[in-house]
Amino acid sequence: MAKKVRQLNLTNTIPSDFKSAQKRIQALKEELSFHSYRYYVKDDPVISDSEYDRLYQELIAIEAKFPELITPDSPSQRVGSSPVSELKAVEHHFPMLSLDNAFSEDDLYKFEERALRFLKTDEPISYMAEPKLDGLAVEIVYENGVLVQGSTRGDGRTGEDITSNLKTIPSIPLRLLPHPELSGPHLLEVRGEAFITLEGFRILNAQRSSAGEPLFANPRNAAAGSLRQLDPSITANRPLDFFIYGLSDPMKLPPQGQAALLQSLDGFGFKVNPHAKLCPTIQEVIDHYHFLLNIRQSLPYDIDGMVVKINSFDLQQRLGSTARSPRWAIAFKFPSTQATTILKDVTFGVGRTGAVTPVAILEPVNIGGATISRATLHNEDEIKRKDLRIGDYVLVQRAGDVIPEVVKPIAEKRTGREVTINMPVECPVCQHRLSRRKLKDNKLEAATRCENPGCPAKQLRDLIHFTGKAGMDIEGLGIKVVEQLVENDLVKDIADIFTLKEEELAALPGWGEKSARNLLDAIESSKNRPLARFINALGIRHVGEEIANILERNYDTLDHLMNASTEQLVHIEGIGDEIAKSIQKYFTNEKNKAILARLKGFGLQFKQRRNHNSVMPLTGFVFVFTGGLEFISRNEAKARVKELGGQVASSISSRVTHVIHGEKAGGKLAKAQELNLPILDEEEFKKLIRL
Ligand code: IVH
Repeated sequence: MAKKVRQLNLTNTIPSDFKSAQKRIQALKEELSFHSYRYYVKDDPVISDSEYDRLYQELIAIEAKFPELITPDSPSQRVGSSPVSELKAVEHHFPMLSLDNAFSEDDLYKFEERALRFLKTDEPISYMAEPKLDGLAVEIVYENGVLVQGSTRGDGRTGEDITSNLKTIPSIPLRLLPHPELSGPHLLEVRGEAFITLEGFRILNAQRSSAGEPLFANPRNAAAGSLRQLDPSITANRPLDFFIYGLSDPMKLPPQGQAALLQSLDGFGFKVNPHAKLCPTIQEVIDHYHFLLNIRQSLPYDIDGMVVKINSFDLQQRLGSTARSPRWAIAFKFPSTQATTILKDVTFGVGRTGAVTPVAILEPVNIGGATISRATLHNEDEIKRKDLRIGDYVLVQRAGDVIPEVVKPIAEKRTGREVTINMPVECPVCQHRLSRRKLKDNKLEAATRCENPGCPAKQLRDLIHFTGKAGMDIEGLGIKVVEQLVENDLVKDIADIFTLKEEELAALPGWGEKSARNLLDAIESSKNRPLARFINALGIRHVGEEIANILERNYDTLDHLMNASTEQLVHIEGIGDEIAKSIQKYFTNEKNKAILARLKGFGLQFKQRRNHNSVMPLTGFVFVFTGGLEFISRNEAKARVKELGGQVASSISSRVTHVIHGEKAGGKLAKAQELNLPILDEEEFKKLIRL
């Protein structure tokens, strides 16, 4: 079921006369906006990245020749504005208010009672219940469909001009899609939340960490910091996204209520959050709150509660606002994700790359339902920047599935007995001297490392990575078992895994013949893992899942890859100098060569998957998994879907074509039922992937 691809008019010749250039630019702008919309707003692209790039390059080339044809809504205008010396002030035509908070279900009933009293009615009221996105509120002005200005909330009346920065966010349309409600000249002021996804936040902080820059405390700060940059080219490199939730003056358009308005805004080309729900009663509002609380952990972005809005604009207008907040809306916050506790001690862990990470040992504290007793302190610079000391009261936070972290000390609570935290001088595992690498610009890398290649901690982590879910995914070979095998001298390197014998395993404490047999079976079946999985499992520096996939696409056997020169490697799209060097270094290392030769001898297949370009059985299908599967691990199930050409999504949306549920399926299942999506149990899934 391949997606229908729009007919592309690909021509690489640049028109020589003004008229044809104008025509071609118009066509390219429409084509590119459409594909950008499919990709960033609908998350459902219909052309490949390289086809998009070709069209984009063509536009750039024609615009270079005819600069007078460049318009503010051209996709080329998302980047490239020059830095400014300060952000200018922008007056909001309608104030950007804040919201009152409800702290309990009872508060929601009281909110309704107040509204009914105010309106002197007992007619039922319906509500829109929307996720409260945890980012930065912004206003964007469209003049006759074209984005002309964007601003922050500021103090509610005056914000800051961040037009150039907002234009770099690919899910914000530079021109609205044609829509029947947008006829004639019009001025539209839309409002929404700009944010950074949890994944984007993690990557951004990892980049900052290796560049020796201070880390952002949470995705919201990262979004705010990114949008208030004076240089838009910095903003352009930040993974920002945007959900729209309203207008400054909703009476401007035909929709009579919030639910219908969101639908119109979706039609104008904006990204509308899929978890907004029209609720005819407060009880249903409360149910939706529990639903959101349930799916919160699985969302790819942070939400900190729910916003409840009276749906009817007529009622909204009658209710009006106080100086601070509207009477027609209220925020129902989730339980806090921050808490204070005592930093009792700091330990230091050695990672796979040799990085020594300080870990805070905390007085156990409950945050949003989970007990937290450890939190990452990231690195030496972060400890210094936050001025953390042992014995401090500290603010700890946990957001989504991000590792808990210490935000700051509560300096007012200091007694003077707190102790400074020092990084160790020697590796806590092998006692090798620790150091910090020099970066190109002579700054120090944030990580403190143990550079001893033989450090047992590094070897152990390598093994755990190799057998783990992201690697060869050998069932039964988790952290604890790998540790046990290493402690008992059964395994030193990854090749040793394939020499394990039933008798020696069965003799280990806690083991028997059956468990030994099971593990050997799992090890045996891992020998057929696709090449990309194997490459990723090796843990080569700079080579993760994505690069491993690129390598597999370009080399059909491991031998071919091993013999590739850095010159050949850098010619592959997506492989830069540093990655190529690292790959070559790994494969020319004598010790690694010996291990790989042994693995080959044990019958590992290093098989390339089937042709990536052909239409495969699951091409065009999008899967979501929920609940535990019994016969296959979640990672293997995902890998199978991908091998067969399908895609795997982490959350339910209308583009999902199959929802696979196992034991204890959570909120995703309820949402799938709500959207009437096809739901399969494990048996049905099994049949599907054995096509
Ligand atoms: S409506 C009158 N809807 O929450 C205020 N706000 O205090 C109307 N927020 O920073 C705001 N998600 O940016 C609305 N779905 C949503 C929202 C939302 C997040 C933020 C908003 C502002 C704060 C309101």
